Amino acid sequence: MASIHIEAKVGDIAETILLPGDPYRAKHVAETMLTDAVCYNKVRGMLGYTGYYNGKRVSIQGSGMGMGSTAIYVNELIETYGVKNLIRVGTCGAIKTDINVGQVILAMSASGDSGANSAYFGSMHYAATADFELLQKAYEASKRLKINTIQGSIFSTDTFYDSDPHRWDKWEEHGILGVEMESQILFTLAKRLNAKALSILTVSDNIRTGEAASSKDREQSYMDMMKIAFELA
Ligand code: HPA
Repeated sequence: MASIHIEAKVGDIAETILLPGDPYRAKHVAETMLTDAVCYNKVRGMLGYTGYYNGKRVSIQGSGMGMGSTAIYVNELIETYGVKNLIRVGTCGAIKTDINVGQVILAMSASGDSGANSAYFGSMHYAATADFELLQKAYEASKRLKINTIQGSIFSTDTFYDSDPHRWDKWEEHGILGVEMESQILFTLAKRLNAKALSILTVSDNIRTGEAASSKDREQSYMDMMKIAFELA
């Protein structure tokens, strides 16, 4: 039995999955970092692979951009395929001026403006948090691998483009490190469906200073993030 957006058979997907937004990232990482990687999904081009990292079975698949797309894959991966650990590996725009591009962030919590969140919780506010065990393991792995990380809060938005220059002021005042578009719904759904979730992000740009990573730098820090994430398998 498959799910609506994933054509894999039950059993084809590992208990631990990495979720980059970009399906071509999933393909590239599966082909360069995993052994015996098999593609289990091509529906809508949202490529998914299962293979082995240091002998441990692990999957990686694109989630698409934004919380609507992410929610579809997170639901189906947990409910149909029994996935237990979901680790987003993505990018964010830093809103703290002193965070440089290439910095790896382990997201402890995700505030946000997701319509799905307000549809479910109404006027109440759910604090979407990462799973502590995954967070702790990622932190320990980063120390072992000598990769510098910052642990903290991020913001997930439905709207990438916005013309208000002060949009992030109050969020920076409240300790938010960066902005992306997926983690809030990932954390919320994982908790609701009894799975574990974490987001590991590399800073692709600084929204305050306008600094942007060169593609070479982005590649290096992206690989650092991947190495941490695969240690969780
Ligand atoms: N906004 C939202 N998501 C992002 C950004 C951003 O500036 N940069 C990388 N992901």
